[in-house]
Amino acid sequence: MTDAGRHPRITIHTLSEVVEVKGHVGNFDVRIVKKARYVDEKECTACGDCAKVCPVVRPDEFNMGLSSRRAIYSPFPQAVPSAYVLNPGECLGNNPVVCSKCLEACKKSCIDFHMSDQTIDVHVGTVVVATGLKPHDPRELDEYGYTRFKNVLTNLEFERLVNAGGPTQGHLLRPTDRKQPKSVGFVQCVGSRSARRGKTYCSNICCMNTIKSTLVLKEHHPDMEVKVFYIDIRAFGKGFEDLYTRSRRQGVQYVRGLPGHVEEMADGRLRVAVENNGGGTLDYCELDMLVLATGIEPADSTHRLQEMLGLQLTPDGFFLEAHPKLQPVDAATRGVFYAGCAEGPKDIKESVTQASAAAARAIRLMQAEKIAAEAITADVIPELCKGCGKCAEVCPYHAISVDPKKKIPAQVAKAACSGCGTCAAECPFGAITMNHFTDHQIGGQIDAMLESGPAEKILAFACNWCSYAGADYAGVSRLQYPPNVRLIRTMCSGRVSEKFIWDGFKKGAPVILISGCHIGDCHYINANHWTVKRVEKIRKKMEKRSIRAERLQLEWISAAEGIRFADVMNRMEELRRSVSEKEIAETIAALESD
Ligand code: FES
Repeated sequence: MTDAGRHPRITIHTLSEVVEVKGHVGNFDVRIVKKARYVDEKECTACGDCAKVCPVVRPDEFNMGLSSRRAIYSPFPQAVPSAYVLNPGECLGNNPVVCSKCLEACKKSCIDFHMSDQTIDVHVGTVVVATGLKPHDPRELDEYGYTRFKNVLTNLEFERLVNAGGPTQGHLLRPTDRKQPKSVGFVQCVGSRSARRGKTYCSNICCMNTIKSTLVLKEHHPDMEVKVFYIDIRAFGKGFEDLYTRSRRQGVQYVRGLPGHVEEMADGRLRVAVENNGGGTLDYCELDMLVLATGIEPADSTHRLQEMLGLQLTPDGFFLEAHPKLQPVDAATRGVFYAGCAEGPKDIKESVTQASAAAARAIRLMQAEKIAAEAITADVIPELCKGCGKCAEVCPYHAISVDPKKKIPAQVAKAACSGCGTCAAECPFGAITMNHFTDHQIGGQIDAMLESGPAEKILAFACNWCSYAGADYAGVSRLQYPPNVRLIRTMCSGRVSEKFIWDGFKKGAPVILISGCHIGDCHYINANHWTVKRVEKIRKKMEKRSIRAERLQLEWISAAEGIRFADVMNRMEELRRSVSEKEIAETIAALESD
């Protein structure tokens, strides 16, 4: 951090919040609000004279509330910049009758109560999202008694207690009597790996963090009784199994089972009831201190940034990478990268690896000075565009700008457009055309496929990335599916417009299938959400026209689901057989009379 602070080409904006991001790869305009520090950070030497006279005492967040700080303070010893900050919500104010003691104490006159928030606009080529994490709040797991019993701590609180720069200078002291504990227990998976008790995913770091803590304890206090309550130990990294073995060898007891109940005894010690799955017994352990290995959750700012940058989230709430294997640090939005726990729980080594990769990816993009835009992009036909803004609303990449009030044609930023075609499918005036996969080309395919014997055909639209690849997989796996399926490839299921469906039915298609990537897997962030909405809308219109809505089907088939592809096609064939010639003729008549 200090190195970054000193680097001539790195500007660190502390106390700052990103409030707006516009633009696209190579041209992001970022608006930052820098909160007032009330201390001149260039002049302040962090001498601490101001804090010495400040009468306001508050819990120190850096030490997890285990020590105190003043209303004017340095967040932590290595903070960059090395300057104090004043919390205006806690300060008694500059009214001399009330306080302003810090103002008098500061010999360099660095304190300014009239400082105000600043808005900073920066123009950048790429963005790295490294928003970090939020620890799980263990208060909802009442059985552990966190906050009810002072000697129940979280792993972060424990870290501060054993840290030489922490509130006890590294001496492990029990909060109740400030004596060194003789026995310490660790509870694993607090808020992780349980749908009922927190999050379903593994938080990745807790096992090794606990093992490290047990080794620290045994190193300083060999006679201390240390127990770890766990479901299973996940020591999967380089050298991790060795650490685990070392911890066991040093006498740390690993009890397979999580505590069901914790109670405080009269002397402040804790009585822990645990179902020992290893021994098949119900054990009661008396401990001086209990440490909860709390899980990792996405940072609070995640949703705001997701909306600003048009990013995707996993069901767990972390940012979703463009591809889990081939683009693990890239966001689906070009020019945006991830580092650290923003993308998922990870330890320091993994975070450093990912941050280095993100920096390298960003540099690679920027040093090229030019980028190759996608060949398949959207184009607006100005004469047809009414400036309604529907295209901008559905664009997953925020690549289209339109001012509905001015009624001027929409503009497509080509560098940001990825060519999903959702805008073209949604435009009510046919004012957007795609370069490749044009309406004319797709319409031509529909005509050709249904030219002869349409009642025998199954018309299926398949997205390039999943369903079409699923069909390919079914083919190479020699899976049997009806030969009368006629596939039309589109880049995304979002490209399949209402017009194509009506055209298909008008040409006599008995059944039409739209298929794409599973929800959450769409190659174009969330374009297939619009597919769902469009299909629902078309089905309602079909019902109004007395056309059986089930003749339009929507299925999600991934590239690896060859078997599913074949199954779906077999079902489509069954459905096709249920559609009579008369029904098809009535549909054609109903659509032609519109
Ligand atoms: Fe497959 Fe969007 S890319 S549904």
